[in-house]
Amino acid sequence: MPHLRSRISGLGMCVPPWVVSNDELTQWMDTSDEWITQRTGIRQRHWAAQDTSTSTSGLAVDACRDALAQSGIAATDVGMIIFATLSPDAVFPGSACFLQGKLGVPGIPALDIRQQCTGFVYGLSIADLYVRAGLHEHVLLVGSEIQSKALDKSTRGRDMTVLFGDGAGAVVVSATQVEDVSARSKESFLLSHHLHADGSFAEDLLFRSPGTSNRIWNPPELVPEREAYPQMNGRLVFQHAVKRMPEVALEALEANGLAVDDVDLFVNHQANKRINDKFAESLGVSPEKVFDTIDLYGNTTAATIPIGLAEAVKAGKLKPGMLVACAAFGSGFTWGASLLRW
Ligand code: ACO
Repeated sequence: MPHLRSRISGLGMCVPPWVVSNDELTQWMDTSDEWITQRTGIRQRHWAAQDTSTSTSGLAVDACRDALAQSGIAATDVGMIIFATLSPDAVFPGSACFLQGKLGVPGIPALDIRQQCTGFVYGLSIADLYVRAGLHEHVLLVGSEIQSKALDKSTRGRDMTVLFGDGAGAVVVSATQVEDVSARSKESFLLSHHLHADGSFAEDLLFRSPGTSNRIWNPPELVPEREAYPQMNGRLVFQHAVKRMPEVALEALEANGLAVDDVDLFVNHQANKRINDKFAESLGVSPEKVFDTIDLYGNTTAATIPIGLAEAVKAGKLKPGMLVACAAFGSGFTWGASLLRW
């Protein structure tokens, strides 16, 4: 008897056209192509125009239209929108509502989630649960970020600013009937998700203002200060990322009775090429098995995994029937992994 499961039926991505090379960053801050390439593996990133012509939901809508077209459904067939971002259009309402307005699908639920670099994995788990529960046939999930407008582009902010790029990646998560739901089945479906957080590290990667932990929501005196920009305890984040990402990938495999060698491709969140390489080393897999887009896009936070999936398909590295593991780590700290049969 077939079982109700969910699968990714459509995939899309969008990046703004402005490509910012490492050399271009040197006009604003004391850095170099050599430092950035050696320490992070990033060669360039896409940034949105620094004006009001583009918004996070504006990037998202293009990625969503591609995902809907690939899925072969209309926006009106979507039962729910989930929007993962740390760089929303506005403090409120949520970017999912802005996106909903642009897609012209009033009435359906529209949910923002705030799990930063782990946002796509958290979002996929929510989409999967709604579909598996029979509540929606199609859920539209997008990770979209315009981080460039929030970054400190002076030398003071160089540790963070060189890492981040803008972009959006979207998937349609659709109901599917699966005959063989075992972990070794070759049918396409989402196997499981494993989510974690540890708020005792909330202060180690944060963007405080605007926020209610300030004296007032958005104190004007903070504008020239560090609090007005994202801040990161980079070494601590690095140390936790290289521990938590392999750990949660193994947790996902163990939960399904699978081994590292069963995975055909890891499409992880990416913040630094050195983290990708350490991940491969920890699991004892060749670096080619850990799909890499960091050199072209930098860290696009919630958009990184769906952009990675789209690029892996385009490169012919992700094919039907493959077992894919997606691990992520980010601010919160949050971390998680999804396992899926493509
Ligand atoms: N250009 C030139 N020099 C720089 C730059 C830069 N862009 N950034 C830092 N430096 C300097 C520092 O000032 C320091 O100089 P000093 O020795 O004179 O003090 C030197 O380079 C070394 O700095 P470190 O911080 O030790 O450099 P490190 O090798 O640790 O790399 C980095 C820093 C790239 C930030 C690394 O720690 C990292 O990748 N951390 C993890 C990032 C991450 O995973 N983020 C998570 C996701 S983000 C999210 O969830 C929102």
